[in-house]
Amino acid sequence: MGKKGEYVMGQAFEAILKRRSIRKYKSDEVPKDKIKKVLQAANWAPSNGNSQPWEFIVIRGEYVGKVCQIFYDWAKDYIPNAPYIAPDKKPGMLKYAENLGGAPIHIIVTYEVYDDEEKTEESLMAASAAIQNLCLAAWEEGLGTVWIAGYAANSEKTRKLLNLKEDRKIAGIIPIGYPDEDPAPPPRKDPELIEKVTWLGFDS
Ligand SMILES: Cc1cc2nc3c(=O)[nH]c(=O)nc-3n(C[C@H](O)[C@H](O)[C@H](O)COP(=O)(O)O)c2cc1C
Repeated sequence: MGKKGEYVMGQAFEAILKRRSIRKYKSDEVPKDKIKKVLQAANWAPSNGNSQPWEFIVIRGEYVGKVCQIFYDWAKDYIPNAPYIAPDKKPGMLKYAENLGGAPIHIIVTYEVYDDEEKTEESLMAASAAIQNLCLAAWEEGLGTVWIAGYAANSEKTRKLLNLKEDRKIAGIIPIGYPDEDPAPPPRKDPELIEKVTWLGFDS
């Protein structure tokens, strides 16, 4: 941070641009203090009515193994039969599914489910903002992350393993650890934002 009120160009933007989804990790342990720091960043996300509907479950050791097993049990049937996955990509994806890249820790981010559907949607939005904060802070700490949703995150087996209450759902499982790869950025559609942005009320 520069002098009071002075924005040091690019600090946040650099993290946003350079963060990548990491799918290969070193097995080195991550100090608990670093995990606490990224959880602080997550906890400072915006939320509807400042409700802060997120909660975090941090797992390591046998719990990480069990989450990976649940994911692999699903992936080993799903991936070979998925028509939209190119055949040459399947072996690599199956290998990845065995241990989700070998991260020593996973952070599971949950959100509150309400009777009101709209409020639940906003709860997921807030938890998603928390996840992005977490991933960006992790990048700054030299840690890699990837946001995993879909089957493993929603499976009954995962819910049971983590002892989730009825009124909570999983917004993401985030493996976290020291990266053992430096992937190229997957290209963005419409990088010049010609099609994605509509300007209304502007002269040009
Ligand atoms: C809601 C959500 C769900 C995702 N689910 C998965 C997943 O299940 N497995 C995975 O490997 N990556 C998953 N990703 C990561 C995306 O594949 C990744 O963000 C995208 O390819 C862009 O790459 P980048 O994160 O390196 O910019 C997910 C990302 C989001 C936001």
